[in-house]
Amino acid sequence: MKIFLDTANMEHIRHGVSLGVVTGVTTNPSLISKEGKVDYQKVVKEICSIVPGPVSTEVLSENAQGMVEEAREIAGWADNIVVKIPASVAGVEATSRLAREGIKVNFTLCFSLNQAMLGAAAGAAFISPFVGRLDDIGEDGMEVVADIVEYVDYYELPTEIIAASIRHPQHCLAAARVGSHIATVPYKVLLQMIQHPLTDSGIERFRDDWRKVMAREGLL
Ligand code: E4P
Repeated sequence: MKIFLDTANMEHIRHGVSLGVVTGVTTNPSLISKEGKVDYQKVVKEICSIVPGPVSTEVLSENAQGMVEEAREIAGWADNIVVKIPASVAGVEATSRLAREGIKVNFTLCFSLNQAMLGAAAGAAFISPFVGRLDDIGEDGMEVVADIVEYVDYYELPTEIIAASIRHPQHCLAAARVGSHIATVPYKVLLQMIQHPLTDSGIERFRDDWRKVMAREGLL
């Protein structure tokens, strides 16, 4: 499963990329506003220059024509840009038109297999089911990811599924178990994925044991 970062924080993106494990980024207007930035284009272009793979960014228009025009402009910002289009009626039309033009779409705010089926039929390169937000309303977000993955795999569709709205490392485990192609994770969750108390105590014990040897040999 590929790991993307779900953020607009440059420091976090640089760190994730330098670890060599983050191959893409997803962002949205809420994440960009959280960073206190107002120049949307500048932020997105900077992210695209740091990240080796796809960088998804969202349109704000609500009608299909507006989405298509916005997406065409965004698509020109960088080679690795992917345009996020919401899973609405207008979004399906915009996705179909953009896919025909060769513009990559991330069909976002997806909460059901029915929405995903239309996103895939429209030619979306990525589909993002939002796990945490479904869990928040008492539904099983990962079950929706599992259904969508099974669907695209069964019909051998080229769409990649991004498990989004990830809240904790258990979500990453579950996403991998159901075969999600990608999980887009907050920076905090990326760090939590590598944390294990037995790794920390193991490092400490190896270091202490070796120090004892060095001390015994008079080498410290
Ligand atoms: C994904 O592309 C979205 O940016 C993101 O995962 C939304 O997550 P949230 O529900 O934590 O806002």
